[in-house]
Amino acid sequence: MFQSLEALPPDAIIGIMSLYRQDNDPRKVDLSVGVYQDDSGKTPVLDCVRIAEQQILEEQSTKSYVGIAGNAGFNKSMESMLFGVNHPTLRAGRISSIQTPGGSGGLCVAGHTIVRAKPEARVWLSDPSWPNHMPLLKLSGLNLEQYPYYDYDKHCINFDAMINAFNTLRSDDIVLLHGCCHNPCGADLSKEQWNLLADLFEERGIVPFIDIAYQGLANGLEEDAYGVRLMAERLDEVVVVTSCSKNLGLYRERVGMTSLVSKDVERAKIAQSNLGNVARGIYSMPPDHGAAVAGRVLSDGELNKLWLKELGTMRTRINSLRQLFVEKAEERNAPRDFSFISEEKGMFSFLGLSRKQVVKLREEFHVYMVETSRINVAGINQSNVDYVVDSIVAVL
Ligand code: LMR
Repeated sequence: MFQSLEALPPDAIIGIMSLYRQDNDPRKVDLSVGVYQDDSGKTPVLDCVRIAEQQILEEQSTKSYVGIAGNAGFNKSMESMLFGVNHPTLRAGRISSIQTPGGSGGLCVAGHTIVRAKPEARVWLSDPSWPNHMPLLKLSGLNLEQYPYYDYDKHCINFDAMINAFNTLRSDDIVLLHGCCHNPCGADLSKEQWNLLADLFEERGIVPFIDIAYQGLANGLEEDAYGVRLMAERLDEVVVVTSCSKNLGLYRERVGMTSLVSKDVERAKIAQSNLGNVARGIYSMPPDHGAAVAGRVLSDGELNKLWLKELGTMRTRINSLRQLFVEKAEERNAPRDFSFISEEKGMFSFLGLSRKQVVKLREEFHVYMVETSRINVAGINQSNVDYVVDSIVAVL
């Protein structure tokens, strides 16, 4: 039977990470997959995570099942972090949440729940978007479309084109937005733009589907949730998917959450039962360890303080690396203006290189990035920045 299957190309992001691991050149630099690296090139286990893990291992007396919705304490703490503890929609009991296996598992649960609610629903993705959004959401049976987002020449959001596209949408069309740290382009909506979108979505009955995988890594934990909180306050229905991979460094533990905002408490209860039923049908129950750790870090005063400090260090470092990259490019009179990189947020930016230039960087200079020329800024450090910028200037 499986003879009918055809070999497929490696994943656009994880495939590059594998190539990097096979490279033995001492000069190699990994700017591909979106994982934070410190100045020594390591992706550390956060101190707050290590302490929480030790506490949990010492206290844990069983490995029995937790339940379909996962760790209730985790879900509660995550909702407070995401929406704000006093958010009117949260207080009104209109939000249903379920712990998921990473943000990707969260997208999958959201996708299947949307299809169940409205099989003909159309979900609009930004052009560009995270390369896995399209295949992942397609598997849940959604009808996917794209709206214009990034202006590659001007290196900013093409907001007019975006609004024009949204003005043609139907009521109940769903628009996937990146809560902050847009992946792959790093160009985030301003508060004013979020406000305009909230007006437009309200007027046209459009449902926002917000993927927020990097809360805390752009401007701050509260600031980065602006769009989520606004939409949840203004609209009857919102889908939100979040992840603890990046802000808590729990990548391999697979920790995420799907939340649905419903029109009223009764519908929220129905939504909760459907989230659970969908999850049960796909993977039954989420893994516990990472969520237990995240829940502990978020709810314990001391650990939370430590985490906010560690998160602040990651955020400040990423933002200063953006600045450093631009300065180094200017020092070398690079034949391209890279100043936009210091304006963008989060781990990613497009360099604007051709695929041929990206391949040359990989094969001749051992500098790895996604073939669209998306770089993970957090892969730059004091010891490789000169080499990275020299290599980029060389291929230009
Ligand atoms: C990325 O975009 O590099 C990360 O979100 C990792 C992934 O799974 O693609």
